[in-house]
Amino acid sequence: MDRLDIRNITAHTALYGIIGKPVRHSLSPVMHNAAFKAIGIDAVYLAFETKDVKKALDAMKCLDIKGFSVTIPNKEGVIDYLDEIDNAVARIGACNTIKNSNGRLFGTNTDWLGAVEAIREKADLSGLKAVVLGAGGSSRAICYGLLKKGADVTICNRTLERAEKIATDFGCRARPLTDAANLRAGLLINTTSVGMSPNVDEMPIPEHAVKNFDIIMDIVYSPLETKLLKKAKEAGKKTISGIEMLLNQAAWQFEFWTGEKAPRDVMKEALYKTLNGNHA
Ligand code: ATR
Repeated sequence: MDRLDIRNITAHTALYGIIGKPVRHSLSPVMHNAAFKAIGIDAVYLAFETKDVKKALDAMKCLDIKGFSVTIPNKEGVIDYLDEIDNAVARIGACNTIKNSNGRLFGTNTDWLGAVEAIREKADLSGLKAVVLGAGGSSRAICYGLLKKGADVTICNRTLERAEKIATDFGCRARPLTDAANLRAGLLINTTSVGMSPNVDEMPIPEHAVKNFDIIMDIVYSPLETKLLKKAKEAGKKTISGIEMLLNQAAWQFEFWTGEKAPRDVMKEALYKTLNGNHA
């Protein structure tokens, strides 16, 4: 692994980071540091395991930390301490990106943008029938994005009430998870943790139901190819891996902070290098 070249750090170097807990597994530092280096921006990005979110945001202002990514469990809790939020944060109820502009903290959400961008490479979302498995925070961000782009969304969740809450808030349909196998749609997105390491032999829908969907996306990226994606490929379906969403949400963060076009190829290379070295 390349070590950070600390000889390049000066008293002018800007600081960015990720807050949340746990953060030591985060792939954001490798992506953002590679991007800063490629564009020639004098900045570093670190991971901060966060004990107290209010104090972290006070420190952001006090130390003029330029930007934070926010991860579990702080995406909802940070909102109370921000000076301004955009419509996406207000509707989704979660913030994954904070920008410090002269001491004012502005919150946005790039998770939905990352998901939409990953899907758009394979399909036109307008009028597309989509089935979303899961009704947690990730599902909420993705459903927001899908509906904003004109998709027709059905959320299927083990706990029906959670799906119904999102459906009521956003105006779409909710069904029990067990119904998913009987639905047909252009797009299926798994936002549950089913199939995530170490439970790599699990799938959120039965194997035979894969045939009911044209494109299958899994936001789980550990393993890189979940059983759901493997079976989808075997059935000749188009697939979208969780790594695409991860990469795209980071690229949008980078652009939001710096105003520069994110070097997606560089970020992707750094991401895969780390995954192949440490995570695969
Ligand atoms: P995130 O913020 O990543 O979306 P979350 O809020 O913990 O995470 O949501 C996890 C999702 O995975 C939920 O939809 C959860 O279903 P419940 O609402 O019924 O808990 C779903 N999930 C987790 N384990 C599951 C399992 N073994 N089978 C089916 N769904 C599961």
